Amino acid sequence: MKRLEKIIVVGGERLQGTVRVSGAKNAVLPILAASILSSERTCIIEDVPMLGDIHVMIEILQRLGAHVSYKPRGVLEINTDNMSNCEIPAELSSMMRASVFTIGPLAAKFGYTQICQPGGCVLGPRPIDLHLDSLRALGAEVSLEENYIKVRANNLRGNVIRFRYPSVGATENVMMAACLADGVTFIENAAKEPGVVDLSIFLNETGAKIEGAGTGTIRIKGVKKLVGTRHKVIPDRIEAATYMVAATITEGAVEIENVIPEHLKTPITTLQRANVRIKKGKKNIRVERKGGLNPLKVTTAPYPGFPTDMQPFLTALLSMADGTSSVTETIFKQRFAYVPKLKKMGADIEVRGNSAIVKGVEKLHGADVAATDLRAGAALILAGLAAQGETTIDRVHHIDRGYERIEEKLRRLGARIHRT
Ligand code: UD1
Repeated sequence: MKRLEKIIVVGGERLQGTVRVSGAKNAVLPILAASILSSERTCIIEDVPMLGDIHVMIEILQRLGAHVSYKPRGVLEINTDNMSNCEIPAELSSMMRASVFTIGPLAAKFGYTQICQPGGCVLGPRPIDLHLDSLRALGAEVSLEENYIKVRANNLRGNVIRFRYPSVGATENVMMAACLADGVTFIENAAKEPGVVDLSIFLNETGAKIEGAGTGTIRIKGVKKLVGTRHKVIPDRIEAATYMVAATITEGAVEIENVIPEHLKTPITTLQRANVRIKKGKKNIRVERKGGLNPLKVTTAPYPGFPTDMQPFLTALLSMADGTSSVTETIFKQRFAYVPKLKKMGADIEVRGNSAIVKGVEKLHGADVAATDLRAGAALILAGLAAQGETTIDRVHHIDRGYERIEEKLRRLGARIHRT
């Protein structure tokens, strides 16, 4: 019973050693959905982290009729040749927002799909209008019937789609749908996140014609068919950021392996401004903290700006800085739900509108707290690592959605952490 599990952290250990980052959750999820588009050959995806969200996506693929097999060391083989069903089971879509990624590929390949309004982390309103309006712009008929979204798309045609906001998921969904549309699609004001680029590399390996991923304009020339391929997923920059803060918050020294330092540019410069020493290698970084932490003024922004997913970790860290910081959230409205939990641990934080004003305190203390969402849960673990005494974190199923063996990885660095 996952929902009864708790993570217990006894703070005060200085983390040291080496940790390897897993494949990126936010790259794997759309890539698994994109495997729906391929035929003939099997898709082989390497470095797939075994996480709650990934298991849900695999189950969705299986329920659609795909054959998915697990191989050792995080390799997944997916064959979608015998897919017969195009309707996403409501109990699965309600568990995970990323189920929305299946809409584009199913509409493009089979001309029909039906999905219940997707669930996921509660970070405030998370509309999918950009996804649906873009599919309409490509010629799909989208109707909302009770709680169901039905998409009919007999003949998708390329178009120019300009987003009012560079949505990561909508960029990925349109990219997938446009691969099999007639003619050329342009996505303007596209998201530039590394996951978008990794998805484009995967799709191009299957035979798609996508240019410009990673820039604000993506061009997709439709092709008739895509075939399976082998692809290694990029490392998870948010997991890497978690260990960067774990090293910093415990005044430790940690070598983080399997990272693309370029993807972590803003997190690295931000922590450097706070007085953290970071040495970049080709595929690794070393993070070491010596001395006090400078307060910071940080605002989240789409990539390459400061990642919203790292915002809770930074707030936890700055709660022990030498002065007053401000952390402003511009992407998800309810992303400060964890602040009362940090306050219970002794942090001095006041949320004013979309900013948290964080007055550094000398020490946090252990407390009984609960994860409100995935990254909030990770922030509570980080705070617990630095707090005096024992912190018990409830609702850890949120954390398991996005972290592979987090206690084991932290324990190897010297943390006192276990699950009950
Ligand atoms: C993805 C990431 C998530 C990360 C987020 C922002 C995955 C699986 N998840 O989420 O971890 O926190 O990017 O970096 O990759 N919006 C609309 N209409 C839409 C879609 C989005 O108004 O149709 C708004 C959202 O409410 C939000 C903003 O756009 O305010 C950004 O959302 P988006 O980039 O779409 O995030 P996700 O793809 O859901």
